[in-house]
Amino acid sequence: MTYQKTYDRASTDPEGFWMEAAGDIDWMVPPTRAFEPNSGVYGRWFEGAVGNTCYNAVDRHVAAGRGDQPAIIYDSPVTDTKRTLTFAELQDEVATLGAVLHDMGVGQGDRVIIYMPMVAEALVAMLACARIGAVHSVVFGGFAAAELATRIDDAGASAVLTASCGVEPGRVINYMSLLSEAIDIADNKIAKCLVLQRDIQPCELTENRDLDWAEEMARARAEGRRADCAEVAATDPAYILYTSGTTGQPKGVVRDTGGHMVALNWSMKNIYGANPGEVFWAASDVGWVVGHSYICYAPLLAGCTTVVFEGKPIGTPDAGTFWRVIAEHDVSVMFTAPTAFRAIRGQDPEGEFVRKYDISCLRALFLAGERSDPTTLEWAEAQLGVPVIDHWWQTETGWAISAIPMGIEPLPVKHGSPGVPMPGYDVQVLDDAGHPVPNGTLGNIVVKLPLPPSCLTTLWNAEERFHSSYLNEFPGYYATSDAGILDEEGYLHIMARTDDIINVAGHRLSTGAMEEVLAGHDAVAECAVVGKADALKGQVPLGFFVLKSGVTQDAEEVAAELVQKVRQDIGAVAAFKLAVAVKRLPKTRSGKVLRATMQKIADDESYKMPAAIDDPAILDEITKVLTDKGLIG
Ligand code: COA
Ligand code: AMP
Repeated sequence: MTYQKTYDRASTDPEGFWMEAAGDIDWMVPPTRAFEPNSGVYGRWFEGAVGNTCYNAVDRHVAAGRGDQPAIIYDSPVTDTKRTLTFAELQDEVATLGAVLHDMGVGQGDRVIIYMPMVAEALVAMLACARIGAVHSVVFGGFAAAELATRIDDAGASAVLTASCGVEPGRVINYMSLLSEAIDIADNKIAKCLVLQRDIQPCELTENRDLDWAEEMARARAEGRRADCAEVAATDPAYILYTSGTTGQPKGVVRDTGGHMVALNWSMKNIYGANPGEVFWAASDVGWVVGHSYICYAPLLAGCTTVVFEGKPIGTPDAGTFWRVIAEHDVSVMFTAPTAFRAIRGQDPEGEFVRKYDISCLRALFLAGERSDPTTLEWAEAQLGVPVIDHWWQTETGWAISAIPMGIEPLPVKHGSPGVPMPGYDVQVLDDAGHPVPNGTLGNIVVKLPLPPSCLTTLWNAEERFHSSYLNEFPGYYATSDAGILDEEGYLHIMARTDDIINVAGHRLSTGAMEEVLAGHDAVAECAVVGKADALKGQVPLGFFVLKSGVTQDAEEVAAELVQKVRQDIGAVAAFKLAVAVKRLPKTRSGKVLRATMQKIADDESYKMPAAIDDPAILDEITKVLTDKGLIG
């Protein structure tokens, strides 16, 4: 069936379409209908059905005779380690860890924080939670203790699974000290932590709180205890994943169980063209949605082998690492962020490393997380000789809103466009008043409700915020907060965020959250953070601050403290390295800070003088400060 026919069928017969997709999942109680419009905020998928995600990702493949097939290939150039876990071995690991979680008092519906680096055990942890019906919330390792504390409190977690350390090129991150600091800050004093001791840097365990992962697993094994797969309602949460909102308080995206299994399983064959038994590699991190969906759940649900890569595209040890992993592990389909390819291209513009490896096994490369600039995309196409597909999605959706569905019909790729809407997504473009705009016109990209399976059902403990963040602005639609164009041929073009989210090296960050940190400094009267274009990372944050009157502290010293403070409060991942003192911030007459104009100045782009500006001279002051600092000009 062609793309258009498939898309139309999902629109005109969503019941038939999604019930058919649900037939590829093993249920304990199968669904009798796909969508119930009267439940939840905008309806619920597969209400009444019961199943288990871990069973579908692991046990059923063992039962079907795939026990000896590799499920997880762990490849860690930063620790010089490789390890393969077959589906049978993975089943033993998750069943045993499930029993350990029970020992720790974790039951169905309880929340568990997973704060782990890119090791195979991170997936084992996620799947063990799914097995016993616990709701995990994975926190990215690059976040600081305060961010971890916020998530521990908001999720109301009863346990934490962690490792002694993470490994970044040139430094080891002591996870345990970050975790202990987070528990100190948090109101929710976690009673039980399970700690994976890593040879590269073990840590001291806190008495009466920390348990040794290996010891607990060994004990459960010796006693022959394994957890069965719990009966989980399709509408129960599978996990909570926090993502940046417009304030410092992150949003807890709630993913359901049934819709998640159905849509992700469907996507593997139809979008990625990946078949059971093949190797699928998403070079991301389990802390991000890409890691949840395409390192852990989707490949395993579909019976593929997944690669857990602990390294960077460059420097671990060189710009050929990706090609080595593809060649060595026979990767069929790869997924990563464009920034990774910009980094590789920067070090190996002629693709000399590419030719050192036989990567003929690779069929397609998918990119997401930020806009794929055509130059990088063309370079990747030329070097790899396979289709390079930009596709667009969000933490909120959990899978692609738009893509080129390689398994359905390999439509022509248009550079600069992340493809066409995926089945189930009624994507429209509206003006600010909520009226549809003609094709080719820039507007707010929205998805007509209901959202397809696997999209967020609400925000954890914040249903009102779910309405105010996504549903109130355009009644009847989900607002993506991305602006863009739908062209004559139905391809989307994503141009910019309409809120204060910026994209730094494929990582989603809130400038509002950074402003809260800057504003908390004693010497700062007011501040603004904007995203400045960056050749490698796409964008980097640039902070402007005004000193309080009477402050005698040197502005450079304050700037250095602000950089340190963002690293301390949000984390290294914010990549906040630029803070500049200005005399005043440009504002409208009603007092609104003109961030968009400041961003244009920072990017050395021409700008239109905002009509409502209070004092145009401030823009010249800002231009001068940035020029003097060598940031523009
Ligand atoms: N734990 C602890 N610290 C981390 C971390 C983690 N898991 N991940 C990143 N950091 C730190 C980095 O060490 C760096 O610290 P530094 O300021 O001391 O150098 C900082 O956070 C910023 O990291 P990053 O933005 O990743 O920059 P980088 O210079 O280390 O690497 C790239 C640049 C392009 C190579 C890297 O960003 C990359 O591979 N990106 C791929 C993006 C991706 O996978 N996105 C997921 C969505 S698909
Ligand atoms: P995240 O929730 O971290 O996945 O970030 C989602 C945001 O990243 C989107 O709202 C977009 O702004 C941006 N994004 C993700 N993929 C793409 C893409 N392919 N093209 C353009 N922007 C993208």
